[in-house]
Amino acid sequence: MAAVKPPPDRLYGRSRGKTLRARQEWLLERFLPQIRWPDVPFAVTPRELWLEVGFGGGEHAHELARRHPDVGYIAAEVFENGICALLSRLAPEEAGPPAPPPNLRLYPQDARPLLRGLAEGALGKLFLMFPDPWPKARHAKRRFVHPQILAEVARALRPGGEWRIASDDPTYQRWVEEVLAEQDFFAVERREARPAGWPATRYEAKALAAGRHPVYWSLTRR
Ligand SMILES: C[S@@+](CC[C@H](N)C(=O)[O-])C[C@H]1O[C@@H](n2cnc3c(N)ncnc32)[C@H](O)[C@@H]1O
Repeated sequence: MAAVKPPPDRLYGRSRGKTLRARQEWLLERFLPQIRWPDVPFAVTPRELWLEVGFGGGEHAHELARRHPDVGYIAAEVFENGICALLSRLAPEEAGPPAPPPNLRLYPQDARPLLRGLAEGALGKLFLMFPDPWPKARHAKRRFVHPQILAEVARALRPGGEWRIASDDPTYQRWVEEVLAEQDFFAVERREARPAGWPATRYEAKALAAGRHPVYWSLTRR
């Protein structure tokens, strides 16, 4: 009997926002193909591979890739306006698509199949900054942090590798605590102030401005 396939990944957030302006279409048609993973390999031989899931406006990915030129950084996002925000940051001029940073590549799709396709221990770091909280209990399955994904991240991360998670949503914070309490893959450090070496993100700024209290977890693969 043929093996029963697991259900395909589904995405529940928005992937299209407001109508794309001409500039955004230019970025997607002309620049994205120059930086899209895996079609365009890194232009350096990276010492290790880092992956960011849901980069939003791209400030965190851009900054970390800049600070660590010896690392290969794959930034994944599905929301077109976010993809355009990072492309725009990298190509501020209209003149023509610039050469992309040698160590930064953009993956404009769901990060989960990419994660599953990585070789065991291929990742040095994974970043999940302010994921969509899906606060309603009946939507809990949509949250990125989930017992099932934990095993998948653990497989992809090398021993000693780090998974960074940040969230400002109280329901998600409790959820992360519950999921982490039930696992053995990672040693967990929890902080209530952003650790040194973690660039700020747009969602964090919004959360702080609204008086919410982000939590930052650093998970080290055992
Ligand atoms: C709340 S935003 C946070 C953005 C950014 N990290 C920040 O802190 O400003 C979460 C983002 O994750 C993206 N996202 C959700 N699931 C994803 C997935 N499976 N793969 C890639 N991106 C995803 C969404 O499109 C959204 O832009």
